[in-house]
This record gives sequence, C-alpha cells and structure tokens, in this order.
Amino acid sequence: MCGIVGYNGTRKAVPILIDSLKRLEYRGYDSAGIAIFNEGKVEVHKDEGKIASLEKTLPDIPGNVGIGHTRWATHGRPNKVNAHPHTSGNISVVHNGIIENYQQLREKLTRSGYQFSSETDTEALAHLVNHYYKNDLVDAVILALNDIKGSYAIAVLCGNQLVAARKDSPLVIGVGENENFIASDIPAILKYTRKMIFLDDMEIAYVAPDKISFFDTSKRPIEKTMKVIDWDMEAAEKSGYEHFMLKEIHEQPKALHETFAGRISELEGAIAFDGLKEEQVRDINRISIIACGTSYNAGLLGKYLFEQLAGIHADVEIASEFRYSHSSPGSLVIGISQSGETADTLAALREAKTFGGRSLAITNIMGSTITRDVDNSIYMRSGPEIGVAATKTFMSQLGVLYLLALYFGKGKGKVSSDRMKRMLVSLRQIPAQITRILGNKESIKKYADKYSSASDIFFIGRTLNYPIALEGALKLKEISYIHAEGYAAGELKHGPLALITKSTPVIAIATKGLTYDKMVNNIKEVKAREAPVIAIVDEKDSEIEKYVDAVIRVPATDDILSPMLSTVVVQLLSYYTAKARSCPIDQPRNLAKSVTVE
Ligand code: M6R
Repeated sequence: MCGIVGYNGTRKAVPILIDSLKRLEYRGYDSAGIAIFNEGKVEVHKDEGKIASLEKTLPDIPGNVGIGHTRWATHGRPNKVNAHPHTSGNISVVHNGIIENYQQLREKLTRSGYQFSSETDTEALAHLVNHYYKNDLVDAVILALNDIKGSYAIAVLCGNQLVAARKDSPLVIGVGENENFIASDIPAILKYTRKMIFLDDMEIAYVAPDKISFFDTSKRPIEKTMKVIDWDMEAAEKSGYEHFMLKEIHEQPKALHETFAGRISELEGAIAFDGLKEEQVRDINRISIIACGTSYNAGLLGKYLFEQLAGIHADVEIASEFRYSHSSPGSLVIGISQSGETADTLAALREAKTFGGRSLAITNIMGSTITRDVDNSIYMRSGPEIGVAATKTFMSQLGVLYLLALYFGKGKGKVSSDRMKRMLVSLRQIPAQITRILGNKESIKKYADKYSSASDIFFIGRTLNYPIALEGALKLKEISYIHAEGYAAGELKHGPLALITKSTPVIAIATKGLTYDKMVNNIKEVKAREAPVIAIVDEKDSEIEKYVDAVIRVPATDDILSPMLSTVVVQLLSYYTAKARSCPIDQPRNLAKSVTVE
C-alpha cells in the first residue's frame, strides 16, 4: 500500500531515493519522507502530498545512505507528522504493511517511557527497534519483529547501517557495483540495476555498499539467488505518452505477444505451459477462481471460457468475500493477481488451499508472494504496469485464460485439433487487431469528449461481453470519478432500467455471438428510454447502427475472442473521458496500485 526505498553506496543518496520513490508513487501518494545519514547524524525530511512537494523542500544533502517512503494512509491521517520515516533515538524506519498489535505495543512502550508523536502503527516499530538496539542493528530488528503481529516490508536506518525485512509485503534488493538498493517493487530501481534478490517472508537483509547478508529470524545466514530482470528501463518510463495509462493501453499488442510467446504453436495446434501437465487436467472437475477488481473481471471471463471451451464448471469469487463464505472450492483453485501481493487474494487462496486440491496463480510479478503459495504459477509477461488502472495486465490475464481454457478443453477432449488450430491462428491475430483499434483512437476520443459531463454511465453486455462491461465501468469510475455501472444487459429490466434516461449514456458491447439478438433487444429497451447509446460492434455489423446513436467498430474475429478487442475500446473511452475531465489519471484519488491490506 505504501512504497519504500533504501540506498547504501558511494553516490548521493537523495536523488536516487527521490527518483525511486517517484516510480513507486502508484503505491501511495498522500505524504512522503526520507532519512539520510549525513556528516555523522541522520537528517529526516517529510511532507504532506506527493514526492514533488517533498523534493522542493529538500536542501542539498551529500550523505550516501538513506531510506525513503511514499504513503497511502492506513493508521493516522495523511499529514506531515504521520509521514514516514518514523524515528526513535538513532533509529529511523519506513514501513509498508500493518502492525495489528500496535495499540498494545504503544501502551507498553509508553509505560517504558517512549513518547509517541504520530498516530501511526509504524512509530511503535521504531521505538521497539530502539528499545532492543545494543550495537547490532540486525539483532535489534529481529527482536522487534518477534514482538509484532501483522504484515511488513521495512527498511531501518541507524547511523550508516541499513537493514531490511519482510513479511507479507513485497521487498526486493537491487544489487549494484559498490552500491545496493531496497525497493517495494522492481521498476523503482530498474534504472540503477537489473540484478535483483527477492526477499522472502521472515527474512532480514543487512545492506552495505559492497555486501548484502541475509538472515532468518534466528540470525542464521541464508543463501539467496540473484535474478536478472529482463524488463527494460523504457518499460518503466512514460516514453512521450502523457500518462502511463495511455502508454500501457498502447503496449497491449506487445504484452499479448509476450504472453503467447513460446506457449502456442498454431501449426501443431498445441499449447504448453511450464510446469503444467496434461494429465493433471483430467482430474479437474470444478474450478474456483479467486481475485479482486480488474483481476476478478478477467476471472469472470475465465469462468465463461472454462465452461464453454473445456466443459468444466467454474466459479469466480471476490477474494474478500470468499474468505468468509465457508464454501468449499473446486479441485483447482486459480488465484489471479497482477501484483501477486493483493492481501485479500492471498488470504482467500490460503483459505481455499485448506480444502486440499491444486492451486495455480496467474500473475505478472516474478517471485511475488502468490507464487510461493501455489502449486503452479503462470506469468502474464505484461512488463511493468505503473498506472493504477490495470490495462495491459488485464489483457495479458485474458490471454492466459484463453490459453488455459483451450489447454483444458483439449485435455478434456472438448476442443478438436481443428478448432484448436483455428483458435490459435485467430488468437495470434489479436495483437495486430488491437493495433488497428488504437489507430482509430481519435474517433473513440470524440465520443468520450461528448459524454464526459455525464453523471452516470452504464456499460452493458451479455455472456462473454458482460465481464468487459464490468471492466469498462470499473475503469471509468476509478479514473474519471463518473458513477458507472456494468450490467448484464438482460438484468436491466429487473431494476436498473429505472435509472435510464436521456441523460444516461449507455455503452453497449454488442459484438457477434450467442446472445447478439437478445442484446439488440436490450439496446432497444434503453433506446426506448431515450438513453444515448454507443454500441461496440464488429466491423461487418450493419444492423445495430439503425438503433443507436453511435457505433465503434472492432475487427472481426472468432466470436469467443472479441472481448479482447472490446476491452481496448472501453479502456480508451475511460481514458479520454478522464482526460476531458482533467483527472489525475495515473494516480486516482484514494486508490493504490497494490492493495496489501485486507
Ligand atoms: O494486483 P491485483 O491484480 O491483485 O489487484 C487487484 C485489484 O486491486 C486491481 O485489479 C484493481 O481493481 C485495478 N488496479 C483497477 O484498475
């Protein structure tokens, strides 16, 4: 929920910390701060608001070691006092996560004479480390962490010593030449190094300029493996686009290409995933998909695909609800999470695993927590996504789900070799078809501009298009702040039709398929209430334009694949609507990219 960074090396720490923090702002942006060891003492600077406000207040500090934080408030209001780092004596701490027993710790530490100046849970941790510190920072951190319940990724500075630790919140150590880095996420430090070591839960790292030592919570040394990340730096920059979101929408053809690379052979009509074996498929009789937000919407499309292509019954569950539903999951549980760190999804997956059964993660982040909790992981390979609104990762999730459903369909004998080959050829064409839609973005912008002053907008679709209606509404509400509803079009007449008036634009996803005729009827229903209707249709459709105010055409493809193409249209409509309303598109209010609290 927050972003943390650390640096220990030979260069000035401040510019590196500030630059890395800016790349983590998607994780939180209500206040920020740094602590630097300089000329024998630690200097702390904090401010309310974004990193840029903090940067303006900073003097020139030559120090070569420091920590930094960008916050998304959980305990305590977003203000300067509650901003991290929190300090106690010579100890400064930045923290991402939640300390659940902080109230008890606070009372205990207060009785021992420590004074609290903030409302945060993190300050208790700073005092605890100070309380235990007797010349060995690793010892003090271990003792303090033993007293803590909850989740954390922390960086602790004491003089020129830097220590990091994690439990249930992500943390990566970047390895450089005579300098080393700490960050909540890879893109923050990708400019400085591609060599990364992923900290696991309950591990502690002592980070010096020329050496990194790893320990478990009994201070036994641990060997860690370094990974070289192949994302390029450009992937973490805006590269001339006004917003990351627009850039990431444009990166979807490339992202999908990567998702498919090495996994499909259209000549042979074959799909292969590392670590998945066809014989495992035979035992699957029910699939439970668990996810949140956009990943849930991808999962809902996955449900239809598993049922239609593989004949396997699938449920899709909102992770935060599944945990308390007491329902037993299917023989395969699939967790979908681009970040691999969403607390609700992780907790629900752990709950689901108590029922036995196999588990599979679909994620974009190598080494993320979800990958350690499951039997198999499939990487989406979207590259880094910085905009809070998920776009290219949604597309890659869909790409993986199509492949998986076809793979299962083949394993269950439901997809013939011929069908498989045809589907794979069509899938391969999707990236180029997305590029064609992107080439038409100005006409999509025209409609976004026209309806950008609406107060309520509906997205409707049926069967495979229903998840895309949900995703369109989610995108629009989160970045434009317009109230939007995604509805199964057949459900409108059971209540929401009462809201449809001439001031309620309706985006109708009406590509060809099983329910096309029914969808035409649903469009007529909203038109009869005078709603302005924009229909997303196949390029060959000549019927719907008679009934609607505008049509946006997508290239013709296999009916079952068209949701990938409609997705791009709803993303662009949302993006341009938010732009017309001058919204902070990449960092919408109250939201963070990675939600590591339940
Ligand atoms: O990292 P995850 O895929 O688990 O994130 C789940 C949701 O928080 C996420 O999809 C969210 O809904 C999107 N950022 C919205 O665009």
